[in-house]
Amino acid sequence: MTTDTTRLKTAVAEVAAKVESAMHADLARRLAGSDPLLREVVEYSLFSGGKRIRPFLLVLSSRCCGRDDADLYTLAAALEYLHTATLMHDDVVDHAPLRRGLETAVQRYSLEDAILAGDWLHARSLYLVGKFTGTEGLDVFCSATEGMVNGEFVQKRLCGDCQASEDDYFAVITQKTGNLIASSCALGALYAGADSARGQALQGYGKGIGIAFQIVDDLLDYTGQQAKTGKETGNDFQEGKLTLPLIRALAAADPVAYEHITKLIKGDRTTLEARLAIYAAIEGLEGFQLAAESAKYYVAEALQQLALFSAVPAADQNQHVELLQALAGYILVRKK
Ligand code: IPE
Ligand code: IPE
Ligand code: MG
Ligand code: MG
Repeated sequence: MTTDTTRLKTAVAEVAAKVESAMHADLARRLAGSDPLLREVVEYSLFSGGKRIRPFLLVLSSRCCGRDDADLYTLAAALEYLHTATLMHDDVVDHAPLRRGLETAVQRYSLEDAILAGDWLHARSLYLVGKFTGTEGLDVFCSATEGMVNGEFVQKRLCGDCQASEDDYFAVITQKTGNLIASSCALGALYAGADSARGQALQGYGKGIGIAFQIVDDLLDYTGQQAKTGKETGNDFQEGKLTLPLIRALAAADPVAYEHITKLIKGDRTTLEARLAIYAAIEGLEGFQLAAESAKYYVAEALQQLALFSAVPAADQNQHVELLQALAGYILVRKK
């Protein structure tokens, strides 16, 4: 492991521990006297080993702009609440059996429990963002959340559609993933009272790494190992989602290969044979490699946004900017 990777891991663990203790304190206060099953489903979903990237980004963005105090970690918890709520609902929509190496909340409990506990987390996240960042923060946060729902609708509309374009794909992933990651950075900057140039730079950085994050997630859905990702591989193809590796493969295919791929998309996608065949087709047309290159491009774009911080040397803040740079690099090589 390089020094950068070790420092990043240590920093993520340090922030995650503080955010988790803020979550425990908040839940103990807010859920005291609530139905025990509500508390159980919320805790099962929250404390199951997520990477805590969104709260990390919020905390680091605030630190880059000079603010670090106890409430920062409760605000960061709100991002993990919302993220977890969206995962609980996403697993219903995607018929997913596994999340973070465990049964999804919908499988473990019930459809009703997963939806309702997700609603509770969503409501609590809104309250906390409003409390700490006011209407300006709520505007950022709610726009990201509204866009995420729209992204899911567009994705559903494009399901199994071989005509889905690369523009469609980027519109979907920007809305469903990029904007929440960007808003984590923007809210950290807002909390710290950063000027608009810094706020925009951090938001732009978040958007770039957010897009790259989803491209890599979509790659891992084909090429990853379930033991590492904690999610079932092959779910995207089975659900009919045309993600970047497949879109790039279709774009590179000659008429024969194109017909072969579209038959697989239109056919029974649940069989092992279909999964192996689509994997081989994408591999043969370099779809995985091309998608990985695209992720690299968005990470490079994101890193450029941070130039503003390096231009004004402030020794105590440089370490935080360096961690954001290291996180961007990690996104490209992550296996989970
Ligand atoms: C999963 O997000 C959903 C996507 C946007 C791809 P993460 O990969 O951050 O999930 P956890 O929180 O670590 O489980
Ligand atoms: C995640 O999209 C975006 C959300 C709105 C949660 P995916 O459906 O690709 O995420 P995973 O693979 O289930 O984590
Ligand atoms: Mg999903
Ligand atoms: Mg996925």
